[in-house]
Amino acid sequence: MARRRLVYEGKAKILYEGPEPDTLIQHFKDDATAGNGEKHAIFDGKGVLNNRISEHVMLGLNAIGVPTHFIKRLNMREQLIRAVEMIPVEIVVRNVAAGSLSKRLGIEEGTPLPRPIIEFYFKDDKLGDPMVTEEHILAFNWATQQDMDDMIALALRVNDFLSGLFLGVGIRLVDFKIEAGRVWEDDFQRIVVADEISPDSCRLWDVKTGKKLDKDVFRRDLGDLADTYTEVATRLGILPAGGGAGESGPKLVH
Ligand code: TMP
Repeated sequence: MARRRLVYEGKAKILYEGPEPDTLIQHFKDDATAGNGEKHAIFDGKGVLNNRISEHVMLGLNAIGVPTHFIKRLNMREQLIRAVEMIPVEIVVRNVAAGSLSKRLGIEEGTPLPRPIIEFYFKDDKLGDPMVTEEHILAFNWATQQDMDDMIALALRVNDFLSGLFLGVGIRLVDFKIEAGRVWEDDFQRIVVADEISPDSCRLWDVKTGKKLDKDVFRRDLGDLADTYTEVATRLGILPAGGGAGESGPKLVH
């Protein structure tokens, strides 16, 4: 078989040309980075877990009518996705103060926010993904007003869906990041959720103990990321309780 054409390689994922026009293959690596690449490590099996967790979330979103780029999982590390025109901003939704919000505004981590807060960051590694406002996004034409309205609506729907999904398995959704892209259907353009949704891009805390179940475990040297993501996948019913891939339902947390 001919070698696939590499389209893009990022810190945790690789994109290859897909088998059909307007498709790509998204490959999940085991690499973990933090601090814009300053800290780097490899966790055996992390890519496999994120592939499965992101598939689970995207399928759930698709099932409730939230459009995503996800088409189907191909194998342990790869999924087939729609090629989209990426909007160069990261959309962060916060329910509870943590991370950079706590640092910037001096709000203690764990303080519930009065309402979900949406922030935007310009995707530029050289600049360290600086926070930007809607004004910047519109003025520099990174997105139109319609794109902005669609992205905000999408982000809030993803927040409601993810909050419920995780709460059902005893996990508090503190905050998360999504990316969005444009697709064209006939003459109509729409905004879809792209990239991945996994513990790499969410803050997840155990409801009872507050234990961290996300990439902060790596950022703050709290343990092994693959073990942590295995726990998330197991709770979601993606992996059976004993570990390994299987088909069981979500685990009820009493
Ligand atoms: P922050 O508190 O560091 O701004 O992060 C907010 C959320 O966004 C958190 O769930 C982690 C996620 N995030 C990413 O997925 N990628 C990033 O580059 C950054 C800065 C945050």
